Amino acid sequence: MLEAILVLGGKGGVGKSTISAATAVRLSDLLPDKNFLLISFDMAHNLSDLFEQEIGNKLTPLTNNLWGIEPDANIYAEEYTTDLIDKMKTLMKKMPIVGLIPQVEKFIDTTFTADSIPLALKNAMFFQKILDAEETNSQNVQFDIIIADFPPTANMITLFEIPEDQVKVVLKYSLNFYNSIKGAIRNVSKMWRNITKPFDDYKERKELGREIFNMIVDLEKRGERISELIHNIGSLRLVTIAEKPSFEEIKRARDLTKRYINLEAVHINMLIPKEHAKTCNFCGKIHSLQKNYLKEIKNEFQQIKIWQSDKLIEEPIGLEGLRKLAFEIYGEVNVKDILYPKI
Ligand SMILES: Nc1ncnc2c1ncn2[C@@H]1O[C@H](COP(=O)(O)OP(=O)(O)OP(=O)(O)O)[C@@H](O)[C@H]1O
Ligand SMILES: [Mg+2]
Repeated sequence: MLEAILVLGGKGGVGKSTISAATAVRLSDLLPDKNFLLISFDMAHNLSDLFEQEIGNKLTPLTNNLWGIEPDANIYAEEYTTDLIDKMKTLMKKMPIVGLIPQVEKFIDTTFTADSIPLALKNAMFFQKILDAEETNSQNVQFDIIIADFPPTANMITLFEIPEDQVKVVLKYSLNFYNSIKGAIRNVSKMWRNITKPFDDYKERKELGREIFNMIVDLEKRGERISELIHNIGSLRLVTIAEKPSFEEIKRARDLTKRYINLEAVHINMLIPKEHAKTCNFCGKIHSLQKNYLKEIKNEFQQIKIWQSDKLIEEPIGLEGLRKLAFEIYGEVNVKDILYPKI
């Protein structure tokens, strides 16, 4: 059963993916009986680089009990929306006039496709698919803990927001689409309308309308289920470096995500190691700048767990590199404290 969803967020380039991967490796090492899934929601996936093996859009074993995936949101959006889109298309084509104008029919077929769905909606659909217990079961592996490497703040919010407002988003998208074909219909003369009236199959339209309604109700239920899950077992960890822009970003992220997920920890990454601060002027200067921000960040987030990690001399890649970074972050901390951080 899914027990925890750890979500890593923060500004670009601060170490979200690397810390997600290091955390996933450490946790899966410590809990060999649990199954872990590491998912990247970044458009420019880099889990493959971090693990030095091709991952892509399939569940890929990384260790005995850790899998990774770099999903192609298009594929999942298609799975989820093909039926709905088909029905909506049919309904539109059954509307008086529309079905009799070949140009409009062609327009609907080529424009109203899974490809035309906004990326944020696609990503959210994939996120929900993974979180939906029924779906995860069908993949043969039952995951206990999911670690999600999220995109920077603005896109992160949509991943939380969409399940809460799923139906509104889908309907808005459909309505926009409907409005765009209305223009085409308007160009047709009144005469057409009179000619086509006898062909209007009202009963069939009503039936289709009901089917679409049911699908939308299902979608709404799924959205509710997912939102509840994120509220209950989601744990947000914000990553920053000890500099102003990324610090500002995590404050914003904290405020914007408050209603969706619990913020449980802050990572302050890539600190200049103390011993290097003395070895050169430049390092000393950066070190003292970082020290000031470190103080400010700790003060701002004094209610929650803070993990600090130095910048490692070697790039933390490959299982061993990630294990080293995990040690730098968590030291010998107990597994429970990583999963459910306390101050
Ligand atoms: N503690 C660290 N020590 C040394 N290098 C690090 C550390 N943390 C991250 N890095 C390196 O910093 C770079 C950026 O890290 P990463 O890709 O994880 O950031 P990100 O926040 O996921 O970026 P993006 O927003 O582009 O996805 C990578 O080259 C990574 O290897
Ligand atoms: Mg990343």
